[in-house]
Amino acid sequence: MSFEEAKNRIAALSAELKEHSYKYYVLAMPSISDFEFDKLLEELVALEKQFPELVDPDSPSQNVGGYITKEFQTVKHRWPMLSLGNTYNEQELLDFDQRIKKAIGENFEYVVELKFDGLSMSLTYENGHLARAVTRGDGTQGDVVTENVKTIRSIPKRLHSGDYPADFEIRGEVFMHRKAFDRLNEERLENGEPAYANPRNFASGTIKLQDSGEVAKRPLDSFIYFLYTERRLFDTHWESLQAVKQWGFPVNNESRLCSNIEQVLQFIAEWESKRYHLSYEIDGIVIKVNNYSQQEELGFTAKSPRWAIAYKYKAQQVETELQSVSYQVGRTGAVTPVANLKPILLAGTTVKRATLHNANEIVRLDLHEGDWVFVEKGGEIIPKIIGVNLQKRQAGANPIHYITNCPVCGTTLERKEGEAAFYCPNDEGCAPQIVGKMQHFTGRKVMNIDGLGDETIDTLYERGFIRHISDIYTLYSKADQLKQMERFGEKSINNMLDGIEKSKQQPFEKVLFGLGIRYVGATVAKKLAAYFKSVDHIIAASFDELNAVEEIGERIAKSVIDYFADAQHREEIETLKSLGLQFTAEEKEVVLASEKLSGKSFIISGTFSRSRDELKDIIEQNGGKILSSISAKLDYLVAGDNMGPAKLEKATKLNIPIISDEDLLAMI
Ligand code: IVH
Repeated sequence: MSFEEAKNRIAALSAELKEHSYKYYVLAMPSISDFEFDKLLEELVALEKQFPELVDPDSPSQNVGGYITKEFQTVKHRWPMLSLGNTYNEQELLDFDQRIKKAIGENFEYVVELKFDGLSMSLTYENGHLARAVTRGDGTQGDVVTENVKTIRSIPKRLHSGDYPADFEIRGEVFMHRKAFDRLNEERLENGEPAYANPRNFASGTIKLQDSGEVAKRPLDSFIYFLYTERRLFDTHWESLQAVKQWGFPVNNESRLCSNIEQVLQFIAEWESKRYHLSYEIDGIVIKVNNYSQQEELGFTAKSPRWAIAYKYKAQQVETELQSVSYQVGRTGAVTPVANLKPILLAGTTVKRATLHNANEIVRLDLHEGDWVFVEKGGEIIPKIIGVNLQKRQAGANPIHYITNCPVCGTTLERKEGEAAFYCPNDEGCAPQIVGKMQHFTGRKVMNIDGLGDETIDTLYERGFIRHISDIYTLYSKADQLKQMERFGEKSINNMLDGIEKSKQQPFEKVLFGLGIRYVGATVAKKLAAYFKSVDHIIAASFDELNAVEEIGERIAKSVIDYFADAQHREEIETLKSLGLQFTAEEKEVVLASEKLSGKSFIISGTFSRSRDELKDIIEQNGGKILSSISAKLDYLVAGDNMGPAKLEKATKLNIPIISDEDLLAMI
């Protein structure tokens, strides 16, 4: 490839990867698989290696994807993870500035940074490899969550370039973008799972999951904000930030160098409103003395450094009038109250509605008709009502009572013991539930039917074509009638029918997820399908048998039992079976290509012309085993380019044969 061609290809790959990162992190709607993403990334890395002068410091190659397993252990932090003193107003900041001046004189600078609202993480790199990721814990010791953190695409697992030290620790914040949070939370609610209160809780809940496969599905992102080295490498924090960016770490671009407190205040004022236009949450600004010697001079209190402080923004609050309360019926039948408000500007957007969550919330607020309410946008995107201005309540105003009947079909609502939500039990006759279930079933993450979007389902339902999921699979017999309908061209009908036919190939776990059993989300469906292998086995399973499956608790087990106890549900499943949908799990029999590597263990390290996944498959398909760390038990180290010197040294010490990928292929 010529230099010019490489330049174009690198630009195209970078643009494509950045677009995919955006879809993955921000929107939580990846349009390609991780595998495809890694393939593109590998191509970019290979090209950049061939043409090092074309490597852009912002290149997506500076952050490489990773591998997963599980297990936590607690370790002591080498440098304690302190917190920051908080300030809430200008005066407190001016006092802080005065204290600093008193201690070190007038000659210093500040670095101001956004204060990301996530959880802090300590990362240790050894010879350019991410060796350990540890949560803050109590500040003295935290949990080792390396494998989970490896699933965060923006955190480099291996550093590409730069003269980084052999051993260093770097700290930053792990967080989730607002839109990703919104989307995933909506999905949780739809599955009948409790929603997370804000992106920070979602991120910390995720990083502590035992199943790192699940972590990998939730798009966490990160920003780095502090470097720790044994020997001082730079004079200032600012220089460190620039350097670690070159090493491949995600450093936020909004940080700024300030020569006095006035510039700091200016930065704070600027972000007071600009923060609402970020794709992620910040809860304030962090102010740090730039020079390391001056930081040392200032030192620490028991809890926090004297050279840094956080300015916290107040959650913005407005007061507006409650116009009415309406009720939404979800596909699971849960009826959610929503407050309709007199439109008002809050945190950069016009707010017209606020969620009231459930009946308890209406009672807690003691809402009355025409009340003036205080609305706040906290971590969550949907604003919430935090209280009522009682002084403005009209005399004789009627209290608002949560409804007793479904607002759509009129059925008496029910509440299960221990649950906050009321449900409409008429799942077979209540339109939003029927339509919602079909929309869920055909959706991208379930049967992924091309040409059958939510609006089409709406229309087909209204015109009486579909009522049950099974009706979708007999639509082909009504093709002529469908083609008569307005706005439905022959081509789009054929496209839809093709999509429907193709969806019959979707595996059992997707079909099971698609049925919309309460609390059975994608992960639970996968676990059930893998364990029971067929719908018949699930139907026949007792409560105890279900409950015995990993991660299936009593609530889910009961919900599954209730679902299949309903004769209409079982009948629908029989119909779907007869129409050709998958109700048994495909046995993933690993057919060994050979047994040539049987009894042999391998570690793959470094970069190769083929992906490491490919090499891993080759080893496993020929009976070999992959180990996670070098020990005397290891038979071979498959070494590629840029392998860490520590691994090499260890393997050499233990006399472990070091082979190339070509040697490996020759073995089989
Ligand atoms: S510096 C010695 N910089 O805020 C303190 N922290 O309240 C080093 N945080 O635990 C922290 N953004 O989780 C620093 N730009 C930033 C930050 C930041 C968010 C978090 C971090 C820390 C907490 C302190």
